[in-house]
Amino acid sequence: MPPEYRLRTARATDLPGLLALEARFPGDRLSARQFRHHLGNPRARLRVAVAGGQVAGYHLVLLRAGSAWARLYSIAVDPAARGRGLGRRLLADAERQARVAGRRGLRFEVRQDNAAAVALYEAAGYRRQAALPAYYQDGGSGWRYARAWAAP
Ligand SMILES: CC(C)(COP(=O)(O)OP(=O)(O)OC[C@H]1O[C@@H](n2cnc3c(N)ncnc32)[C@H](O)[C@@H]1OP(=O)(O)O)[C@@H](O)C(=O)NCCC(=O)NCCS
Repeated sequence: MPPEYRLRTARATDLPGLLALEARFPGDRLSARQFRHHLGNPRARLRVAVAGGQVAGYHLVLLRAGSAWARLYSIAVDPAARGRGLGRRLLADAERQARVAGRRGLRFEVRQDNAAAVALYEAAGYRRQAALPAYYQDGGSGWRYARAWAAP
C-alpha cells in the first residue's frame, strides 16, 4: 500500500531530509543556509510532506513585503514518491498558504524543459505570463506562470 503523506510546517529537524531530497535531482538546489533562513522567516512558508518520519516532498512560498502576490520559490517530490498526486497536493497547500496570507494569487518561474512541472501547473489552472530567455545560470530558458483566485 502506498504510504500516507501528511503535510505540515517544516521544522529544524527536517533539514537533513530536505537536503537529502534536494540532492536527488539536478539543477538549482536550495542550500542548508537557505533552508535555515526560511525556517525562521516570517515571510516564508516552508511545508513538508512526510510519511514514516521521512520527508518525501516540500514547497517553499515567499511572501515579499509590498507585493499582492505570493511566489512559489520551490516545490519538489522525492523521485520514489512521484506520480501519486503528491505534487498536486503540495501545490494546493502552497495556494492555501498564499490565500491565508491574503495574497491574490501565486506566481513562479519554471524551466521550459521541465515537462512534468509545466504539466502539473497547467493542469492546476496556471497560465503563462512571459517567456524568460536564458533565465537560468546554465543558459536554460524559463516561463513565468501565475494564477489569481477569484476575489472572496
Ligand atoms: C514536478 C513534480 C513536483 C511533480 O510531482 P508528482 O508528485 O510526481 O506530481 P503528481 O503525481 O501530483 O502529478 C500531478 C499532475 O502533474 C502532471 N505530471 C506530473 N508528473 C508528470 C510527468 N512526469 N509527465 C507529465 N505530466 C506530469 C500531470 O498532469 C499530473 O496529473 P495526472 O497524474 O492526473 O496526469 C516532480 O516531478 C518533481 O519534484 N520534480 C523535480 C523538481 C521540480 O522540477 N520542481 C518544479 C520546479 S519549478
